[in-house]
Amino acid sequence: MKKDFSRRQFLQRSAGFAGAAAISPIFLKDPNPIPPRTMYVPPSDRVRFAMIGVGMQGSGLLAGAVTLPGVDCVGAADLWDGRHTLAKEITGNPNLFTTRKYKELLDRKDIDCIVAAVPDHWHKRVVVDATAAGKDIYCEKPMSHTAAEGVAMVEAQKKTGRIVQIGSQRVSSAVCAKAKEMIAAGAIGKVTLIEGTLGRNDPTGAWEYPPPPGLSLQNFDWDTWQSGATNRPWDADMSPKWFARWRCWKEYGTGVAGDLLVHLVSGMNFMMGWNEPPKKVMALGGIIRFPDGRNMPDVHAALYEYASAAGAPVYLRLNLGCENPEIYRFQGSKGILEVTEFGLAHYPQTGEDSAPSYYTSGYPQAMREAYFKEWHKEHDPEITKEPSTEILTLKTWDFDDMRPHLWTFFSSVKSRKPLTEDAVFGHNAALACHMANESYFRGGVPVTWDAATSTIKS
Ligand SMILES: NC(=O)c1ccc[n+]([C@@H]2O[C@H](COP(=O)([O-])OP(=O)(O)OC[C@H]3O[C@@H](n4cnc5c(N)ncnc54)[C@H](O)[C@@H]3O)[C@@H](O)[C@H]2O)c1
Repeated sequence: MKKDFSRRQFLQRSAGFAGAAAISPIFLKDPNPIPPRTMYVPPSDRVRFAMIGVGMQGSGLLAGAVTLPGVDCVGAADLWDGRHTLAKEITGNPNLFTTRKYKELLDRKDIDCIVAAVPDHWHKRVVVDATAAGKDIYCEKPMSHTAAEGVAMVEAQKKTGRIVQIGSQRVSSAVCAKAKEMIAAGAIGKVTLIEGTLGRNDPTGAWEYPPPPGLSLQNFDWDTWQSGATNRPWDADMSPKWFARWRCWKEYGTGVAGDLLVHLVSGMNFMMGWNEPPKKVMALGGIIRFPDGRNMPDVHAALYEYASAAGAPVYLRLNLGCENPEIYRFQGSKGILEVTEFGLAHYPQTGEDSAPSYYTSGYPQAMREAYFKEWHKEHDPEITKEPSTEILTLKTWDFDDMRPHLWTFFSSVKSRKPLTEDAVFGHNAALACHMANESYFRGGVPVTWDAATSTIKS
């Protein structure tokens, strides 16, 4: 049979992915650059904060925060004394006030706000106590350890009127802001499916962290650390593991859902302009790669229905048993928007036939030729008026960088202007994780969020 290629089809077929032509990446400038640390900020305008939790994440947040202009760390609380030393090292202040009791920080009138990076089972207490004490708070993700705790945290924000920001830093990234703008402007047309994926494949990536040598009841307050979750006597073998690897157990953590899926959900909600819990979730997974005594899955795939998605499925997959980069793929009638840690790519599609329908290979010759002739007459675009098939690629800073998100928080503490990732946003994102966990533990049955009773139902 005679091959019939229009000029447009030829151009598209020869140009690579989805028939589109790639252009070199453009570097996306940050729309809200952070001023340099050296910028003069008068004492009356400076923000004074204290840390609660100076562990793996808290140490990074502290190191990032002290590079921001007009922001001063004046104290730090942690239950392990080794982290008092660490806070002094990071701030370069050997006299930094440190304590095991975070309430001593909340009682101080000279502290404006708190940055908290404690394990998940402590989030609610820290947020409720800080807001009740009149402090604004940046609290790490996932906002809550349980759905009920999230409800109480939203209530605390509402009752006290304090600024609460949850720590999914993608929400303050330039790349996600650009993706949000493009989706809203119709770059991918009608959204038909959203997928997100992330994978790791090493013991550290799967939270088998090395417990600090010498951790003991002399330098660590074990009972306070585990309070609200368990009531275990100190166990010289297990307690240091629970302390360092708490993500592995549901008593303290929220598994791969609260650790990583929450980033995918928060970023997606931000880029799509959504702020709601999922309507329905079905999740499967298992402890497949790291059967080390943990009770949370190391592989977790969740399929979501969102009211605002108007039927488009959302499929998010986390895998601690195979390395793969964090990628979102927003698929729509006008193409694909792929968002990765350091940039985005837009693969446009016209959504229209670019050639006569191949169905007509089942027509007799004369009929087929007549159809071809007519088709070309009606569809071939005028030269120079062909639809754009260029792939747009933008490069930018890491969407995992915490400094922009910290800057959003401290700016809001000063201006009192509301911010995006507040307790309501954080709660909706955390609910998606709690629902994925609930469905997994119920064997993959669909679960829904019942707002009237604030419970997850199946
Ligand atoms: N946004 C991100 O990309 C990101 C990355 C890693 C961790 N996190 C989040 O940060 C939080 C902390 O994680 P981590 O890996 O740093 O944990 P970690 O165990 O390394 O550190 C937590 C620290 O909090 C301290 N702590 C616990 N309860 C306390 C209390 N009541 N008062 C004072 N200190 C207390 C512990 O002693 C510990 O030093 C978690 O919620 C985690 O999900 C976020």
